[in-house]
Amino acid sequence: MCGIVGYYGKNEKKEIVIEGLRELEYRGYDSAGIAIMDKEELCHFKAVGKLSNLETKMSDFHSQGAGVAIGHTRWATHGKPTELNAHPHLGEYSFVVHNGIIENYKELKEQLQSQGASFVSQTDTEVIVHLFESHQNRLKNPFAAFEATIKELRGAYAILLITKAQSDTIFFAKHGSPMLLGFNTDEIFFASSDTAIIGKATEVYYLQDGQYGAIEGGAVKLFDTHGSKTFVRQKLSADKAMAQKEGYRFFMEKEIYEQSTVMGDTLMGRVMDNGIAFDEIDTTLLEGIEDIKICACGTSYHSAMVGAYLLERLAKIKTSVEIASEFRYKEPLLTPNTLFVTISQSGETADTLEALKMAKKAGLRSLSICNVDNSSIVRESDAAILTRAGIEKGVASTKAFATQVMVLWMFTLFVAKQRHTIDNEKLQQELSAILQTPTALKFNDTLHAKINRLSKRYLHGHGFFFIGRDIFYPLALEGALKLKEISYLHAEGYPAGEMKHGPIALADSELFTIALMPQTMQYEKIKSNVEELSARDATILAISPLPFELADDFIQTTHANHPMLEFFEMMVVTQLLALEVAIRLGNDVDMPRNLAKSVTVE
Ligand code: F6R
Repeated sequence: MCGIVGYYGKNEKKEIVIEGLRELEYRGYDSAGIAIMDKEELCHFKAVGKLSNLETKMSDFHSQGAGVAIGHTRWATHGKPTELNAHPHLGEYSFVVHNGIIENYKELKEQLQSQGASFVSQTDTEVIVHLFESHQNRLKNPFAAFEATIKELRGAYAILLITKAQSDTIFFAKHGSPMLLGFNTDEIFFASSDTAIIGKATEVYYLQDGQYGAIEGGAVKLFDTHGSKTFVRQKLSADKAMAQKEGYRFFMEKEIYEQSTVMGDTLMGRVMDNGIAFDEIDTTLLEGIEDIKICACGTSYHSAMVGAYLLERLAKIKTSVEIASEFRYKEPLLTPNTLFVTISQSGETADTLEALKMAKKAGLRSLSICNVDNSSIVRESDAAILTRAGIEKGVASTKAFATQVMVLWMFTLFVAKQRHTIDNEKLQQELSAILQTPTALKFNDTLHAKINRLSKRYLHGHGFFFIGRDIFYPLALEGALKLKEISYLHAEGYPAGEMKHGPIALADSELFTIALMPQTMQYEKIKSNVEELSARDATILAISPLPFELADDFIQTTHANHPMLEFFEMMVVTQLLALEVAIRLGNDVDMPRNLAKSVTVE
């Protein structure tokens, strides 16, 4: 996702900004740019592709003396990855960089165009700089103009703006997208993550939503809606690896915590008042399609299973799910009216890629749901929807899974609307639940501490069964996979109703059952399945909003009004359980034995 770096000081600005942006490369980007105020002149450079392209373009440029600079790596959301769409965006005499999305950009753009502003990009960001200049032309006071600009923006943003109207100043604002200020004796830095300024700044202040201000003459002016604010700097770690983990013990832990935020990115610009919009696909993708086949491996296969439940239920389209390594050799019957969907975090999984090639050869239309743009699977597919989870470093997938499920849910509504299988009332309920998901993914320290305490009782035994019904069955599979990947304990996921057809023979006090018991989906059915296990002395950890007296351990979730909200909340619980068990067992959670992040061999 996009990265921002800003600099106020007297050292070589080009190098500081590029080095900072390089530290943010892991977030993924497709173009980059810099604007520097050099001796009262505003210079700017942009390049598509890697940062090295930008460096080449700037090779003859050197900044002189004290001044300001802003830089950006862009991960395209509105408009293609081109130089014109790359940040910084220019007005007549100012430049802006921005992360997030300006939801009311269309109205603002029309209004500014009617006043004579001319736009050169397809981005939402460009409105900010024109709006600023229109206020500045009227008010002749850059701080007041910036303040007026911020007040008109709706949506999420982290913004840096520099202007010839006040050439020694950086204006900044944060609302919903990350931004921090870094300090050393005579320099001030801005960045969207502290990794960009480690080793340069010694102290940091993490801006809060709603805060804005300016660096003027080396001093920080900070405001929020209540007026001027004071702030306290904190020490910045000098250890890069630790800083990238932002204080978490493992990347996986950080990624579990990040899920609420990245889900906001997944939804960005896609959830409309009357349905789902995917810029990446058009309605012709579904023309003549009679059924859907989803193909994937591992965790991605589990999200595919969730997708199949949703697609059949809401979009009333026949949907089958295939494990890619099986699909390749089963001599499948393929018909051209099937849409072939592949799901992959990395976009490089050999089995999934080969399955996709087979389907294409058989004349099927293809769609991929992937976290990595320009990956082999994305390139091979007719269309692709990106999950926007950001780079996932922990080998055990967490946020990538969550965002895959979300894209499948949104895709279901997209298909359902096109096939007229959903009425407006139901559609509105689904859209409202989608918008509540980032909140459902948030959790507090109390829950984490409880799971940490509980985990000590689950370090032995002869096995774990994760059980659930309907969409909670693939979640049970995923919970079991997470646990076995990082704890090396044996765990299985099972449809709760199947236990009595064999596995219940294993039940005794050393069999740990993790029961997913949502209130909104077949609660009574799963309750009786769990009672059957309890009667055979199995140790039960129940996860439910409703108290369950036979549970040996109980984690209470929220009384949500939609199964998917319960799904995401329970997903977090199973992830934290796997994490805490693995940490207690002393395992390397981020790099579990025998596993690789990208499986490019068969
Ligand atoms: C488990 C995990 C794997 C992957 C599988 C497919 O945590 O990450 O099971 O899901 O190897 O990988 P992708 O999604 O990259 O195709």
